[in-house]
Amino acid sequence: MAQIQWYPGHMAKAKREISDKLKVIDIVIELVDARAPYSSKNPMLNDIIKQKPRLIVLTKKDMADADVTNQWINYYKEHHYFAMSVNLKNFKEYQKIIDQCQIILKDKKAKEQARGIKPRPIRAMVLGIPNVGKSTFINKLASRKATITGNKPGVTKSQQIIRVAKDFELFDTPGVLWPKFDDERIAKNIALIGSIKQDILPLDDLFIYALKYLSQHYPKLLEARYQLTIDFSDEDWLIHAFDHIAKLRKIKPIKGETDYDRVMQLFFSEINSGIIGPISWEDTTCVKD
Ligand code: G4P
Repeated sequence: MAQIQWYPGHMAKAKREISDKLKVIDIVIELVDARAPYSSKNPMLNDIIKQKPRLIVLTKKDMADADVTNQWINYYKEHHYFAMSVNLKNFKEYQKIIDQCQIILKDKKAKEQARGIKPRPIRAMVLGIPNVGKSTFINKLASRKATITGNKPGVTKSQQIIRVAKDFELFDTPGVLWPKFDDERIAKNIALIGSIKQDILPLDDLFIYALKYLSQHYPKLLEARYQLTIDFSDEDWLIHAFDHIAKLRKIKPIKGETDYDRVMQLFFSEINSGIIGPISWEDTTCVKD
C-alpha cells in the first residue's frame, strides 16, 4: 500500500473550509454510501463538526443490501446518532431528510423561541467524501426551489445559501471530505463504490478481493450475472474466473491470451453501476472502536 496515502494536510484544509461555514449553520447532513457506510465515512468528522447537530444519511440504498442497511441504521441509533437511508434518485425521499432535520432541531428551535428569538429557517450543510451524492442532493433541491439568499449575516459572498423548502436553507456547495484510505480494506471498499479511482490500487488485487467477497456473501448474484461459482481449492481459480468471464462476454483474446484488463474493466463498471444487484461491502462487524 506504499503508493496510497492519507495526507493530514488534506484534512487540515477541509477542516478550515468547513469550520468557517459551520458558524452559520444549524445542522450537518453527512452523506455516506449505504454500500460501505464505515469506509465512506471520514474518521475525523467528529473532530471537525464537534457538537453541531448531525444527520447521517446513507445514500444509494437502492444499490445496497437492505438487511445490511437496516443493521447499520440500528447501529447508529444504538450509538445515539440520527440516521436514515435514502435513494437520491427518488425525489420523494428528499422531504424525509428535511423533515428529519426539523425533528432533530425541534427542541433547540423551541428554546430559541421561548427566549424571544425570531423564528428563522433551518440552515444546513452537506458533507461527505467524493461520489456519495452531495451534488445530486443539492442540485435536485436547488433546481426546484432556487431562491438565492446570499447577503445574510455571517454568510460571505462566496457562500451562497439557497432556500430549498419552506423553513429550510442549504449551502449551494458541499463540504468535500478526503476519504481515509491508508487501511487496505477501506481503500478497496471505497474504490469499489467509486469514491477513489480504482486504478490507484493494483487492479488484480481489487478483482480478487471483490470475487472472494462476493463468493462468500452474494454467491447467487455472481452466479446469476456471470454463471460463476468459484472453487477456491483449485489453485488456478483466478485464471479460470478470468477465462470464464471473457468467454461469456465474448471479450476478444490478445495474441491468444485472455484480455485480463478488459475483463476487470467490465467487472468493475458493472459493480459500480449496481447492475449485478444490491451489494453491501461491509456490515457493522467491521467497526473497530
Ligand atoms: P458527489 O457530489 O458526492 O461527488 O456525488 P454525485 O452527486 O455526483 O453522485 C455520484 C453518482 O451517484 C451520480 O451518478 C449520482 O446520480 C449517483 N447517485 C447519488 N445518489 C444516488 C442514490 O441514492 N442512488 C443511486 N442509484 N445513485 C445515486 P453518475 O452516474 O455519476 O451521474 P448521473 O448520470 O446519474 O447524473
